[in-house]
Amino acid sequence: MYSTGKAFTKAKLKNITLNTRFVRSAFELFDSTPDAHVSDYEFTVYEELAKHPIGLIITAHTCVSPEGRSNDFQNAIWSDEYIPDQSRIASLIKAGEGKCKSALQIGHGGMKAENHNGGRRVLTPDNMTKEDIHSVREAFVSAAVRAKKCGFDSVELHGAHMYLLSQFFYPQFNHRSDEYGGKAENRIRITTEILTLIKETVGDDFPVFLKLNGDNIEEPERYFEDVIRACEILYDNGLEALELSGYHSSPRGDPKEPFFSENAARLVSVTNLPIIQVGGIRTLEQIEEILSCGVSAVSMARPFISQPDLIEHLAKGERAKCISCGRCGGNRGRCIL
Ligand SMILES: Cc1cc2nc3c(=O)[nH]c(=O)nc-3n(C[C@H](O)[C@H](O)[C@H](O)COP(=O)(O)O)c2cc1C
Repeated sequence: MYSTGKAFTKAKLKNITLNTRFVRSAFELFDSTPDAHVSDYEFTVYEELAKHPIGLIITAHTCVSPEGRSNDFQNAIWSDEYIPDQSRIASLIKAGEGKCKSALQIGHGGMKAENHNGGRRVLTPDNMTKEDIHSVREAFVSAAVRAKKCGFDSVELHGAHMYLLSQFFYPQFNHRSDEYGGKAENRIRITTEILTLIKETVGDDFPVFLKLNGDNIEEPERYFEDVIRACEILYDNGLEALELSGYHSSPRGDPKEPFFSENAARLVSVTNLPIIQVGGIRTLEQIEEILSCGVSAVSMARPFISQPDLIEHLAKGERAKCISCGRCGGNRGRCIL
């Protein structure tokens, strides 16, 4: 039924093996209930996706702590109250014919939580005390513990797109002079500590992914060197794979080329850490080219909103139907095409 290309082969990533090299990138449907519970529509999205051979389905960005809620329709995993919702998502994915693995994406909005966190204090790298850092770290670890309880196969830390962990890693948002600011090792430290604590608490074999931006609009070369250094550190600390995104993560308009192929190819040539590339990928030809450079898997977000059966269409040589208009975001996760 499917193509014989590399995309349809298994991807072994340390403690997890994906049945295909297709990943559904995390995608907020902006459809939660006001108290951050999962809506009926959200459940159906995962049920539909799980029918298809997606190696890994990463859920929506799910918030680890109330002060980090970054929009009024974001799902939460900050207390046990949310375990039934998230368990149902994990079960729907597991039950699907697609034999997909699952990852709960967990994150904290940091400055993006302003006006969405019920008037709580907005945390930024610059205003956080060591106690704040410790409590955010604990919130991530508790979220990962819950994710495992819910039956997810893994978690992905949202370290991209200017959410809190990303703010720590971008020099323009982090002016700290202690061990959490300055050089790359320090700016990635909060993420590394969360990774290490999750592995210690949930189990060394519990897979953890990280989504990270690979580029910067300021001093791009210097930032890229820092990304390489971060990959070395994350690899040494047991990360399964890095999902590589970028500063302009989901520009509107039908993409001519995948957005981050150059950075991904450069990164795989210098790091042992498996790389998953995301952004603007729309054809099987592009996917095979990306994989031929040594990237471990490819990740797509908007195309799976318009076509949960995207893989079957790509396998027939079709281009994804998605035109990247981005209107699905404002339409509570529903494609307008
Ligand atoms: C409406 C919308 C919601 C998104 N939600 C998330 C999210 O929850 N977590 C995340 O890491 N990225 C999120 N993204 C970014 C996508 O995962 C992806 O990185 C980006 O859209 C580029 O991939 P694509 O061209 O295949 O859509 C979102 C993007 C859009 C447009």
